[in-house]
Amino acid sequence: IDAPALGALRIRPAAALGVDRRSGRIIGVAAEATAPPERLVGEWTGAAVAAADVEVTDLGADQFLMPGLIDTHTHAPQFSFIGVGHDLPLMEWLEKYTYRHESELQDVARARALYADVVRRVLRSGCTMAAYYGTIHRESTCALVDAVRAAGQRAYVGKVCMDANSPDYYCETTDESLRETEAFVRAVLGDQSGADDALLVRPIITPRFAPACTVRCMRALGDIARERRLPIQSHMCESPAEIEFAKRCFPAYASYSAIYHAMGLFGPRTIMAHCIHMSDDDMRLVRECGVGVSHCPNSNFSLSSGVADVRRLLDAGIPVGLGTDVSGGYSSSIIDAMRMAAAASRVLTAQRGPAASAPLSTAELLFLATQGGARVMGMHDHIGTLDPGKLFDALVVDLAAPGSHVPAPAAAPAVARAQQLGRIEEAWALRAEQFVYLADDRNIARVYISAKLVHSL
Ligand code: GUN
Ligand code: FE
Repeated sequence: IDAPALGALRIRPAAALGVDRRSGRIIGVAAEATAPPERLVGEWTGAAVAAADVEVTDLGADQFLMPGLIDTHTHAPQFSFIGVGHDLPLMEWLEKYTYRHESELQDVARARALYADVVRRVLRSGCTMAAYYGTIHRESTCALVDAVRAAGQRAYVGKVCMDANSPDYYCETTDESLRETEAFVRAVLGDQSGADDALLVRPIITPRFAPACTVRCMRALGDIARERRLPIQSHMCESPAEIEFAKRCFPAYASYSAIYHAMGLFGPRTIMAHCIHMSDDDMRLVRECGVGVSHCPNSNFSLSSGVADVRRLLDAGIPVGLGTDVSGGYSSSIIDAMRMAAAASRVLTAQRGPAASAPLSTAELLFLATQGGARVMGMHDHIGTLDPGKLFDALVVDLAAPGSHVPAPAAAPAVARAQQLGRIEEAWALRAEQFVYLADDRNIARVYISAKLVHSL
């Protein structure tokens, strides 16, 4: 099961998918797997293949294969206070909890211990690629890179930049911020030996958000990103108070987007989190520059930030993916993000009517969690669907896993009926919906990244 386009769920119940372990890529998919595996592999590779050279894995009746989930926005250091501190709105939450907890990760040993747990946890939730924020500390953020590499996860990792309007215990000078960013980028890129490594872990330029940065810092970060062709991530249009703050810091600009745009931070490799309260000018600049949006509905609800209008973003042709935004969001699972995105879209449907704002369908939610996220990451040629040529970043989902909340077909009459009538695709469409609304880590039986098994139950 995959979602190659918005609203299109592709279900291939009798398919065989071939993977080359060495390249980590999908070499072919046969919709009807009637030929013996070695013949299929021979057709895909154009070479004679012996049965002994092919390892075959069959999936069970309650299992399916899907692309890995993609988290386009999360904060690794904030796992230290996940699930607490939801009593305050964004700006007060940052001051009272976030900056204090993040500042403690100056301690590299502490960061190392936390980040090993974080990455394992994100991985077992089925997330094969994440865009992580670290802290302002270079060494600790390098420890995050180490943890990602050790786990075999695909990721963008950013050293956070904050040289303005931040507490003195958690702030950098402009020179420090730029010097440490350069050093971080060199450290991450320098450790790479080949092209495949470059697709696994990359540094991402990370001004925390405009109000926490000076003009000089943001412009120089924009230069670094352009020179080194690196992705950029930040926050934007998250809450009315935050937007007011940004406008007070940068009164000369027509919109929040105009600030980032003027600093050279807006382009097709830019990921902006939240984008809830978007003016027409914001929408125009984001669209024209090819900026991708990370929709973080759990965080948007949990910090009372607002309800992002994903339908409006999609209708405007803006790339959208899902983010957990731990710990503004209390869940580190992209399955949760799909459910929260469904709820957010239905809030808008309830307010405006289905004609004005259609709710997100199961197919659309699965797209946002996979290929939509891949597009926002600029990785859609490499991951996001189960197409030949793509890297095999995939999950084996087991709907009948021990402790699973997904009912067996016999206990779900609609599924059972579709199966009895031989409507296999319809049955799987229903089960995909059950996956979105009921699954959790217990259903993620195996996780593959570049064809390497990196997690199994
Ligand atoms: N804006 C600036 N920093 C943050 C952060 O850490 N989390 C969220 N949700 N918004 C931010
Ligand atoms: Fe965030």
